[in-house]
Amino acid sequence: MTWAPVRTTAAQIAAVAVALALLVLAAPARAAFTAGAPGLGDPFLPLAGNGGYDVGHYGLTLSYAPDTHVLDGRAVITATAQQDLSRFDLDLRGFDLPSVTVNGQPAAFARDGQELIVTPQKGIARGATFTVDISYRGRPTVVTDPDGSIEGWVPTDDGAFVVGEPQGSPAWYPVNDNPRDKATYDIAVTVPDGLTVMANGVLVSRAASAGRTTWAWRERDPMAPYLATATLGRFDLTTTTLAGGLPSYVAVDPQLAKGQVLSKLPDIIDFYSSIYGPYPFDAVGAIVDDAKVVGYSLETQTKPVFPYVPDEATLAHELAHQWYGDSVTLTAWPDIWLHEGFATWSEWIWSEHEGNKSAAQSFKQLYSTPAQDTAFWNPPPGAPGSAAAMFDGTVYDRGGMTLEALREKVGDAVFFRIMRAWAQDNRFGTVTTAQFVALAQRLSGQDLRQFFDVWLYQPGKPTSW
Ligand code: TRP
Ligand code: ZN
Repeated sequence: MTWAPVRTTAAQIAAVAVALALLVLAAPARAAFTAGAPGLGDPFLPLAGNGGYDVGHYGLTLSYAPDTHVLDGRAVITATAQQDLSRFDLDLRGFDLPSVTVNGQPAAFARDGQELIVTPQKGIARGATFTVDISYRGRPTVVTDPDGSIEGWVPTDDGAFVVGEPQGSPAWYPVNDNPRDKATYDIAVTVPDGLTVMANGVLVSRAASAGRTTWAWRERDPMAPYLATATLGRFDLTTTTLAGGLPSYVAVDPQLAKGQVLSKLPDIIDFYSSIYGPYPFDAVGAIVDDAKVVGYSLETQTKPVFPYVPDEATLAHELAHQWYGDSVTLTAWPDIWLHEGFATWSEWIWSEHEGNKSAAQSFKQLYSTPAQDTAFWNPPPGAPGSAAAMFDGTVYDRGGMTLEALREKVGDAVFFRIMRAWAQDNRFGTVTTAQFVALAQRLSGQDLRQFFDVWLYQPGKPTSW
């Protein structure tokens, strides 16, 4: 090959300069593919959820053997990248993972505590939708919370009681376990014939084959991960349609005395719809199991789950959460009073509506608790301070009292307008206490900063507001 000198023109120089500039621009963009954060930094649960993507849908196909407690699962998760992602985490506790693929290609993965770290062969560009397909198998774990309560996948004598607040969901499916990332769900579970699986949303199909039955449920509305359930066991399932066409699924463990109280469900839903605005979801119901060891109920979306036959107040509480907690959901766990205070006040207004004790009487009775009873008045409900105190009595009682005190301060007309606007304006959304304060101020025309500060953030019994 001979070499001949060439004359370089200005145009050629310009072309090379443009090409170099393009390379320089392109190179850092590729280098900028980074790992999604292992947590979202919630003050109480910093590792719950993950950064860099947003889940749109979970397709869970599970099969469970109650005799061995082994869960065989497949999760197909559709998500959208929010940054140029080199890798990302999901939350998952335990299990063997035979395979993980991203967009159909085998992906590398590692485990670190509750973090499942997935590294796809190619980075995922910001804005791209991608699919993660995870097969998993093992005995799901029971998670113990900082306050000593248990959650996750809790075996019962005929199946499992499945609850996830605030951090039990990774015990049964790989998840972006943060209330900020709502998604729709398909949950199909195969169990031995004779058992019933109760999950969120509507029953899509039920098919028996070779001694086993697959129950397929679909939640079409956005749902926070902790509100998913797949509670299973022996149940008497009653499927009806409420006035207005809403399908209702009520399951009661046949070991329990028939839950007469459940006949109140349609009236409670009607009443809350009349004051808070239309019921948010496309199915309703309840799951009444025999799981006393759990000791608390949960407002699992469309079908709250109870570890024993609830009393009327508890039923009303969990149904109220469908508006406040499930449809309108906190952004960070320290704002838990936005769920529990609202559901507690709802118990009182249901009682008032029924002609029993009024909300004002409930307030008065609780307010008579002396200031010396510091355990009753602390921590302040807007700042419980730690994950261990999230479900303390104040979050419920003083949280509910905050709303009744607001009602008395702004009057019924404005108060009910606030409650309704909160539910309707934020339907399927995530919210903060500051937004609630702003709404109350806007609709009342009053400066309520001092009021909310005293009720939500100051320790000790409120004395003037
Ligand atoms: N959110 C439930 C309710 O009040 C209670 C709850 C969920 C709970 N998880 C918990 C209480 C853990 C104590 C510990 O309806
Ligand atoms: Zn509650």
